[in-house]
Amino acid sequence: MGDTTTTVLAGLLIFGTSVWIGGLIAIAVVARVASATLEPAARVAFFRSLGRSYGVVGTVALVLAYGTGAALVSGRSWTGAPIAAVVLAAVLAATLAVGVAQARRMTRLRSGLLDTNDGAAAAEVRRGAGRAGALRATIALLSLALLAVGVVLAT
Ligand code: HEM
Repeated sequence: MGDTTTTVLAGLLIFGTSVWIGGLIAIAVVARVASATLEPAARVAFFRSLGRSYGVVGTVALVLAYGTGAALVSGRSWTGAPIAAVVLAAVLAATLAVGVAQARRMTRLRSGLLDTNDGAAAAEVRRGAGRAGALRATIALLSLALLAVGVVLAT
């Protein structure tokens, strides 16, 4: 691969990675602020719309990072770090799919609770929120681990 191609790929990889990780941190801040300032019905509508819009931006950023990262490591021998990167990338994508499905379920549960307000539904929302939080923390940790492996690969 020529020097110019490598430079362009590295630039796009850094761009995609910064949008992805910056986005996660920004959503965490936005989630706190939204919970503190919006009424329950407005909060559910807000997250439904934010999640859908950010889903597109985040997925494009992640696909860009995966594609450019894969192109940059493609010629290398399959030893520790590239294998770790592929495994982490696959587990991150799978966790993300589960996380988005769980987030959609939470939106459904929360809007159901707005209508009924019964105890069993409230308990289910609490349990689901715990799982959703764990999934989000896992997505953040996997992203940071992948960033660390990327740094090892680049140096
Ligand atoms: C790239 C990462 C993320 C994607 C693609 C994403 C996507 C989504 C989607 C699709 C929804 C559901 C909207 C619907 O009902 O259709 C949603 C809801 C939500 N998201 Fe995210 N999200 C991400 C990260 C995060 C993070 C980092 C946080 C907070 C730390 C967060 C907090 C929430 C909350 C609070 C909801 C409302 C559902 C609930 O109460 O659990 N999201 N998200």
